[in-house]
Amino acid sequence: MTAPGARPNDNSWVRGAVDRALAPGYQAHTATLRGAVRQRLVTRALLTHLPTPPGRILDVGGGEGTQARALARLGYEVTICDPDPEMLRQADERLSGADAAVRDRITLVHGDGHDAASLVGGGWDGVLCHGVLMYLTDPAALLHVLADVTGAGGVISVVGKNATALALRAGLQGRWRDTLSLLDEEPRAAAGTVTEIGNLGVPSRGDDPHQIRDLLSAAGTEPLAWYGIRVLTDHLGDTPPGPDLDTVVEAEWRAGERDPYRQVARLYHLIHRRRP
Ligand SMILES: C[S@@+](CC[C@H](N)C(=O)[O-])C[C@H]1O[C@@H](n2cnc3c(N)ncnc32)[C@H](O)[C@@H]1O
Repeated sequence: MTAPGARPNDNSWVRGAVDRALAPGYQAHTATLRGAVRQRLVTRALLTHLPTPPGRILDVGGGEGTQARALARLGYEVTICDPDPEMLRQADERLSGADAAVRDRITLVHGDGHDAASLVGGGWDGVLCHGVLMYLTDPAALLHVLADVTGAGGVISVVGKNATALALRAGLQGRWRDTLSLLDEEPRAAAGTVTEIGNLGVPSRGDDPHQIRDLLSAAGTEPLAWYGIRVLTDHLGDTPPGPDLDTVVEAEWRAGERDPYRQVARLYHLIHRRRP
Protein backbone atom coordinates (compact mmCIF):
# COMPACT_ATOMS: atom_id res chain seq x y z
CA MET A 1 0.00 0.00 0.00
CA THR A 2 1.35 3.46 -0.80
CA ALA A 3 0.43 6.23 1.61
CA PRO A 4 1.11 9.74 0.35
CA GLY A 5 -1.20 11.08 3.05
CA ALA A 6 -4.67 12.53 2.71
CA ARG A 7 -5.21 16.21 3.26
CA PRO A 8 -8.53 17.27 4.78
CA ASN A 9 -10.90 18.50 2.09
CA ASP A 10 -13.48 21.15 2.91
CA ASN A 11 -15.84 19.68 0.34
CA SER A 12 -16.43 16.49 2.29
CA TRP A 13 -19.66 16.38 4.25
CA VAL A 14 -18.85 16.36 7.98
CA ARG A 15 -15.41 15.01 7.07
CA GLY A 16 -13.98 12.54 9.53
CA ALA A 17 -17.19 11.87 11.40
CA VAL A 18 -18.59 10.24 8.28
CA ASP A 19 -15.49 8.17 7.66
CA ARG A 20 -15.31 6.90 11.20
CA ALA A 21 -19.00 6.02 11.22
CA LEU A 22 -19.02 4.57 7.71
CA ALA A 23 -16.20 2.08 7.92
CA PRO A 24 -17.60 -0.22 10.65
CA GLY A 25 -21.11 -0.35 9.16
CA TYR A 26 -20.20 -0.63 5.51
CA GLN A 27 -18.81 -4.15 5.58
CA ALA A 28 -21.97 -5.35 7.35
CA HIS A 29 -24.12 -3.54 4.77
CA THR A 30 -22.23 -5.16 1.90
CA ALA A 31 -23.21 -8.58 3.30
CA THR A 32 -26.98 -7.82 3.22
CA LEU A 33 -29.26 -8.54 0.29
CA ARG A 34 -29.33 -4.81 -0.48
CA GLY A 35 -25.54 -4.63 -0.43
CA ALA A 36 -25.12 -7.77 -2.52
CA VAL A 37 -27.67 -6.60 -5.11
CA ARG A 38 -25.94 -3.25 -5.39
CA GLN A 39 -22.46 -4.70 -5.89
CA ARG A 40 -23.62 -7.37 -8.35
CA LEU A 41 -25.55 -4.82 -10.46
CA VAL A 42 -22.59 -2.44 -10.49
CA THR A 43 -20.18 -5.17 -11.63
CA ARG A 44 -22.59 -6.27 -14.36
CA ALA A 45 -22.94 -2.73 -15.71
CA LEU A 46 -19.17 -2.22 -15.59
CA LEU A 47 -18.55 -5.38 -17.58
CA THR A 48 -21.09 -4.18 -20.14
CA HIS A 49 -19.17 -0.94 -20.78
CA LEU A 50 -15.50 -1.30 -19.78
CA PRO A 51 -12.99 -2.25 -22.46
CA THR A 52 -12.03 -5.92 -22.19
CA PRO A 53 -9.20 -6.68 -19.71
CA PRO A 54 -6.41 -5.96 -19.20
CA GLY A 55 -6.98 -2.28 -18.54
CA ARG A 56 -6.08 0.28 -15.84
CA ILE A 57 -8.97 1.15 -13.55
CA LEU A 58 -9.02 3.85 -10.85
CA ASP A 59 -11.61 3.42 -8.07
CA VAL A 60 -12.05 6.78 -6.30
CA GLY A 61 -13.50 6.11 -2.84
CA GLY A 62 -13.18 2.39 -3.50
CA GLY A 63 -13.52 1.64 0.22
CA GLU A 64 -13.05 -1.99 1.23
CA GLY A 65 -12.59 -2.99 -2.39
CA THR A 66 -15.51 -5.17 -3.50
CA GLN A 67 -15.43 -3.86 -7.08
CA ALA A 68 -11.62 -3.78 -7.17
CA ARG A 69 -11.44 -7.49 -6.30
CA ALA A 70 -14.17 -8.41 -8.80
CA LEU A 71 -12.36 -6.53 -11.60
CA ALA A 72 -8.89 -7.76 -10.62
CA ARG A 73 -10.16 -11.36 -10.74
CA LEU A 74 -11.02 -10.68 -14.40
CA GLY A 75 -7.54 -9.35 -15.19
CA TYR A 76 -7.87 -5.55 -14.71
CA GLU A 77 -5.20 -3.59 -12.83
CA VAL A 78 -7.10 -1.60 -10.19
CA THR A 79 -5.98 1.29 -7.98
CA ILE A 80 -8.17 2.38 -5.05
CA CYS A 81 -7.75 5.98 -3.89
CA ASP A 82 -9.54 6.54 -0.58
CA PRO A 83 -9.02 9.03 2.29
CA ASP A 84 -10.19 6.69 5.05
CA PRO A 85 -7.36 4.60 6.57
CA GLU A 86 -9.88 2.22 8.15
CA MET A 87 -11.51 1.47 4.78
CA LEU A 88 -8.07 0.84 3.29
CA ARG A 89 -7.16 -1.41 6.21
CA GLN A 90 -10.30 -3.46 5.53
CA ALA A 91 -9.42 -3.62 1.82
CA ASP A 92 -5.91 -4.80 2.70
CA GLU A 93 -7.28 -7.40 5.12
CA ARG A 94 -9.68 -8.79 2.53
CA LEU A 95 -6.91 -8.92 -0.07
CA SER A 96 -4.81 -11.10 2.20
CA GLY A 97 -7.31 -13.90 1.53
CA ALA A 98 -7.28 -13.42 -2.26
CA ASP A 99 -5.16 -15.19 -4.90
CA ALA A 100 -1.66 -13.77 -5.33
CA ALA A 101 -2.49 -12.73 -8.90
CA VAL A 102 -5.50 -10.72 -7.69
CA ARG A 103 -3.46 -9.13 -4.89
CA ASP A 104 -0.75 -8.12 -7.33
CA ARG A 105 -3.26 -6.33 -9.56
CA ILE A 106 -4.63 -4.07 -6.79
CA THR A 107 -2.89 -0.96 -5.43
CA LEU A 108 -4.20 0.97 -2.42
CA VAL A 109 -3.51 4.70 -2.27
CA HIS A 110 -4.37 6.81 0.75
CA GLY A 111 -5.77 10.14 -0.37
CA ASP A 112 -8.73 12.34 -1.22
CA GLY A 113 -10.33 11.89 -4.64
CA HIS A 114 -10.05 15.62 -5.30
CA ASP A 115 -6.28 15.13 -5.35
CA ALA A 116 -6.36 12.11 -7.67
CA ALA A 117 -4.45 13.83 -10.51
CA SER A 118 -1.42 14.48 -8.31
CA LEU A 119 -1.72 11.21 -6.38
CA VAL A 120 -2.23 8.69 -9.19
CA GLY A 121 -1.95 10.62 -12.47
CA GLY A 122 -4.24 10.39 -15.50
CA GLY A 123 -4.92 8.35 -18.63
CA TRP A 124 -7.02 5.69 -16.87
CA ASP A 125 -9.09 3.30 -19.02
CA GLY A 126 -11.88 3.39 -16.44
CA VAL A 127 -12.57 5.64 -13.45
CA LEU A 128 -15.11 4.55 -10.84
CA CYS A 129 -16.71 6.67 -8.13
CA HIS A 130 -19.39 4.71 -6.31
CA GLY A 131 -21.26 5.85 -3.22
CA VAL A 132 -19.03 8.87 -2.62
CA LEU A 133 -20.86 11.94 -3.95
CA MET A 134 -23.55 11.64 -1.24
CA TYR A 135 -20.91 12.47 1.40
CA LEU A 136 -19.69 15.63 -0.33
CA THR A 137 -21.23 19.09 0.04
CA ASP A 138 -20.83 19.72 -3.71
CA PRO A 139 -20.23 17.00 -6.30
CA ALA A 140 -19.09 19.25 -9.19
CA ALA A 141 -15.39 19.50 -8.34
CA LEU A 142 -14.92 15.75 -7.93
CA LEU A 143 -16.83 15.03 -11.17
CA HIS A 144 -14.37 17.31 -13.01
CA VAL A 145 -11.44 15.44 -11.47
CA LEU A 146 -12.93 12.10 -12.57
CA ALA A 147 -13.21 13.35 -16.15
CA ASP A 148 -9.72 14.90 -16.09
CA VAL A 149 -7.93 11.71 -15.01
CA THR A 150 -9.79 9.50 -17.52
CA GLY A 151 -7.96 8.82 -20.78
CA ALA A 152 -9.61 9.76 -24.10
CA GLY A 153 -12.37 7.25 -24.81
CA GLY A 154 -12.16 5.89 -21.26
CA VAL A 155 -15.20 5.00 -19.18
CA ILE A 156 -16.45 6.88 -16.09
CA SER A 157 -18.83 5.14 -13.69
CA VAL A 158 -20.68 7.10 -11.00
CA VAL A 159 -23.11 5.69 -8.42
CA GLY A 160 -25.00 8.04 -6.11
CA LYS A 161 -28.21 8.44 -4.17
CA ASN A 162 -31.23 9.36 -6.28
CA ALA A 163 -32.73 12.49 -4.71
CA THR A 164 -35.84 12.42 -6.89
CA ALA A 165 -37.42 9.35 -5.25
CA LEU A 166 -36.28 9.58 -1.64
CA ALA A 167 -39.74 8.98 -0.18
CA LEU A 168 -40.17 5.51 -1.70
CA ARG A 169 -38.14 3.55 0.86
CA ALA A 170 -39.87 5.22 3.81
CA GLY A 171 -43.30 4.63 2.26
CA LEU A 172 -42.70 0.96 1.49
CA GLN A 173 -41.46 0.50 5.05
CA GLY A 174 -44.63 2.13 6.44
CA ARG A 175 -42.77 5.10 7.95
CA TRP A 176 -45.54 7.49 7.04
CA ARG A 177 -44.35 10.66 8.80
CA ASP A 178 -40.91 10.29 7.19
CA THR A 179 -42.62 9.66 3.86
CA LEU A 180 -44.64 12.88 4.12
CA SER A 181 -41.67 15.01 5.07
CA LEU A 182 -39.52 13.53 2.27
CA LEU A 183 -42.32 14.21 -0.23
CA ASP A 184 -42.49 17.81 1.07
CA GLU A 185 -38.72 18.13 0.67
CA GLU A 186 -38.67 16.94 -2.94
CA PRO A 187 -37.74 20.26 -4.60
CA ARG A 188 -34.83 20.74 -2.20
CA ALA A 189 -33.91 17.07 -2.46
CA ALA A 190 -33.58 17.37 -6.22
CA ALA A 191 -31.17 20.27 -5.67
CA GLY A 192 -29.04 18.04 -3.47
CA THR A 193 -29.63 20.01 -0.29
CA VAL A 194 -31.63 17.52 1.78
CA THR A 195 -29.75 15.20 4.07
CA GLU A 196 -31.19 12.17 5.78
CA ILE A 197 -29.84 9.59 8.13
CA GLY A 198 -29.45 6.50 5.99
CA ASN A 199 -29.15 2.84 6.92
CA LEU A 200 -25.48 3.32 7.89
CA GLY A 201 -26.57 5.86 10.51
CA VAL A 202 -24.70 8.80 8.95
CA PRO A 203 -26.09 11.82 7.10
CA SER A 204 -26.01 11.69 3.33
CA ARG A 205 -27.62 13.71 0.57
CA GLY A 206 -28.83 12.81 -2.88
CA ASP A 207 -28.67 14.26 -6.37
CA ASP A 208 -30.93 14.38 -9.36
CA PRO A 209 -29.29 11.96 -11.84
CA HIS A 210 -30.04 14.41 -14.66
CA GLN A 211 -27.95 17.06 -12.92
CA ILE A 212 -25.04 14.66 -12.41
CA ARG A 213 -25.31 13.67 -16.09
CA ASP A 214 -25.15 17.36 -17.10
CA LEU A 215 -22.19 18.08 -14.81
CA LEU A 216 -20.30 15.08 -16.20
CA SER A 217 -21.13 16.12 -19.76
CA ALA A 218 -19.89 19.66 -19.08
CA ALA A 219 -16.65 18.13 -17.82
CA GLY A 220 -15.94 16.66 -21.26
CA THR A 221 -17.78 13.34 -21.30
CA GLU A 222 -20.78 11.85 -23.13
CA PRO A 223 -23.45 9.65 -21.53
CA LEU A 224 -23.51 5.94 -22.41
CA ALA A 225 -26.05 4.54 -19.95
CA TRP A 226 -28.17 5.21 -16.86
CA TYR A 227 -29.16 2.31 -14.62
CA GLY A 228 -31.27 2.31 -11.47
CA ILE A 229 -29.98 0.25 -8.55
CA ARG A 230 -32.41 -1.25 -6.05
CA VAL A 231 -35.88 -0.71 -7.39
CA LEU A 232 -37.43 -3.79 -5.80
CA THR A 233 -35.32 -4.57 -2.72
CA ASP A 234 -34.41 -1.21 -1.22
CA HIS A 235 -37.00 -1.38 1.55
CA LEU A 236 -35.83 -4.76 2.87
CA GLY A 237 -33.48 -3.41 5.55
CA ASP A 238 -30.81 -5.85 6.67
CA THR A 239 -32.40 -8.97 5.16
CA PRO A 240 -29.55 -11.33 4.21
CA PRO A 241 -29.23 -12.70 0.67
CA GLY A 242 -31.14 -15.96 0.13
CA PRO A 243 -30.68 -18.89 -2.25
CA ASP A 244 -32.65 -16.95 -4.88
CA LEU A 245 -30.05 -14.15 -5.06
CA ASP A 246 -29.35 -14.75 -8.78
CA THR A 247 -33.07 -14.38 -9.59
CA VAL A 248 -33.39 -11.25 -7.46
CA VAL A 249 -30.38 -9.69 -9.20
CA GLU A 250 -31.83 -10.56 -12.61
CA ALA A 251 -35.17 -8.95 -11.70
CA GLU A 252 -33.38 -5.84 -10.37
CA TRP A 253 -31.21 -5.65 -13.50
CA ARG A 254 -34.16 -5.82 -15.87
CA ALA A 255 -36.15 -3.24 -13.89
CA GLY A 256 -33.14 -0.98 -13.39
CA GLU A 257 -32.26 -0.66 -17.06
CA ARG A 258 -35.65 0.74 -18.11
CA ASP A 259 -38.16 3.49 -17.42
CA PRO A 260 -40.14 4.08 -15.32
CA TYR A 261 -38.43 1.77 -12.81
CA ARG A 262 -34.92 3.24 -12.93
CA GLN A 263 -36.36 6.67 -12.13
CA VAL A 264 -37.52 5.51 -8.68
CA ALA A 265 -34.48 3.39 -7.83
CA ARG A 266 -32.68 4.27 -4.61
CA LEU A 267 -29.36 4.73 -6.45
CA TYR A 268 -28.51 5.92 -9.94
CA HIS A 269 -25.60 4.42 -11.88
CA LEU A 270 -24.35 6.64 -14.70
CA ILE A 271 -21.81 5.44 -17.26
CA HIS A 272 -20.08 8.07 -19.39
CA ARG A 273 -17.26 8.07 -21.93
CA ARG A 274 -14.45 10.66 -21.96
CA ARG A 275 -14.53 12.57 -25.22
CA PRO A 276 -11.21 12.59 -27.13
C1 LIG B 1 -20.19 4.13 1.10
S1 LIG B 1 -18.47 3.89 0.88
C2 LIG B 1 -18.45 3.25 -0.79
C3 LIG B 1 -17.30 2.30 -1.03
C4 LIG B 1 -17.25 1.69 -2.45
N1 LIG B 1 -17.03 2.70 -3.47
C5 LIG B 1 -18.51 0.93 -2.77
O1 LIG B 1 -19.32 1.39 -3.59
O2 LIG B 1 -18.69 -0.14 -2.18
C6 LIG B 1 -17.91 5.58 0.61
C7 LIG B 1 -16.40 5.71 0.43
O3 LIG B 1 -16.11 7.04 -0.02
C8 LIG B 1 -14.90 7.44 0.59
N2 LIG B 1 -14.80 8.91 0.49
C9 LIG B 1 -15.41 9.85 1.23
N3 LIG B 1 -15.02 11.09 0.83
C10 LIG B 1 -14.15 10.90 -0.20
C11 LIG B 1 -13.39 11.78 -1.03
N4 LIG B 1 -13.46 13.09 -0.87
N5 LIG B 1 -12.59 11.23 -1.99
C12 LIG B 1 -12.53 9.89 -2.15
N6 LIG B 1 -13.22 9.02 -1.39
C13 LIG B 1 -14.01 9.52 -0.42
C14 LIG B 1 -15.02 6.89 2.00
O4 LIG B 1 -13.78 6.86 2.65
C15 LIG B 1 -15.60 5.51 1.72
O5 LIG B 1 -14.60 4.56 1.51
